[in-house]
Amino acid sequence: MRLVRVRDAKKLERLILGNREWLRPWEATNPHGPNSFDIKAQVRGLLKQFKDDQGYPFVIEYRGEIVGQLNVANVLFGSVSSALLGYWIAPNFAGKEITPTAVALTIDYLLNIVGLHRVEIDIRPENSASLRIVEKLGLRYEGLKERYIHINGDWRDHYIFAITQEEVPSGILNRWKQNRVPSMQFPRKNS
Ligand SMILES: CC(C)(COP(=O)(O)OP(=O)(O)OC[C@H]1O[C@@H](n2cnc3c(N)ncnc32)[C@H](O)[C@@H]1OP(=O)(O)O)[C@@H](O)C(=O)NCCC(=O)NCCS
Repeated sequence: MRLVRVRDAKKLERLILGNREWLRPWEATNPHGPNSFDIKAQVRGLLKQFKDDQGYPFVIEYRGEIVGQLNVANVLFGSVSSALLGYWIAPNFAGKEITPTAVALTIDYLLNIVGLHRVEIDIRPENSASLRIVEKLGLRYEGLKERYIHINGDWRDHYIFAITQEEVPSGILNRWKQNRVPSMQFPRKNS
C-alpha cells in the first residue's frame, strides 16, 4: 500500500479502461451526465483531499506492480472520527486475498496510527466478491441504505458494514490471521 502519485495515472488508466466489464457494475457514476475518465484529474482530486485531511488515496501494489486502488474517503475527525473505504483490484490479480489484506492493513492504520474510531464499507447486496471481504475480516453489518449511491447508471441499495477500534484492540489483520474472526450475519441475496 502506498499513496497514489500523479505519475501513476497512465498505469491506472490502462487498468481502469482495460477492465470495463469487471469494474462497471460496481463503479460510482455521475447522476447528472457521463462519467469522466480523466484519471490524472481524478488522482489530483484525491491528492487534494489527502492534503486537506479528508482522505487517503492508496494504490495497491503486488510484486512491485500497481494492481488496484484502495481509497479512504469521507474522513471526519473529532466526535465522529470515521472514514469510508472503497477498493478494486484488476481481475488477473483477483482471488489472491490481496484486497482483504490491503483493507485490513488500512483499517489498522486508520484505527491505530491516524486515531480514527470507526471505519465503514458500503457494498451492493449483489456484490458477492466484495461481501466476502467484509465477511473474511468480520466487519459488523449495520443495515441497508436504500438507493444510496449512484452506481452503473442508477441509484443502488447498499449494505453498510463497519468496525470500531474497541472491536479489534490487537488489530483486524492479526484477528483474521489468527482465525479469531467472529461469524457475521447479513441478509444474503442471490448474485
Ligand atoms: C471485490 C474485489 C475487490 C475482491 O478482491 P480480491 O483481492 O479478489 O479478494 P479475495 O481474494 O479475498 O476474493 C474475494 C472473493 O472474490 C471471488 N473471486 C475470487 N477470484 C475471483 C475471480 N478470479 N473472479 C471473480 N471473482 C473471484 C471469490 O468469491 C472470493 O471469495 P473466496 O475467497 O471465499 O473464494 C474484486 O473482486 C474487485 O475488484 N471487484 C470489482 C470492483 C469491486 O467490486 N469493488 C468493490 C466495490 S464495494
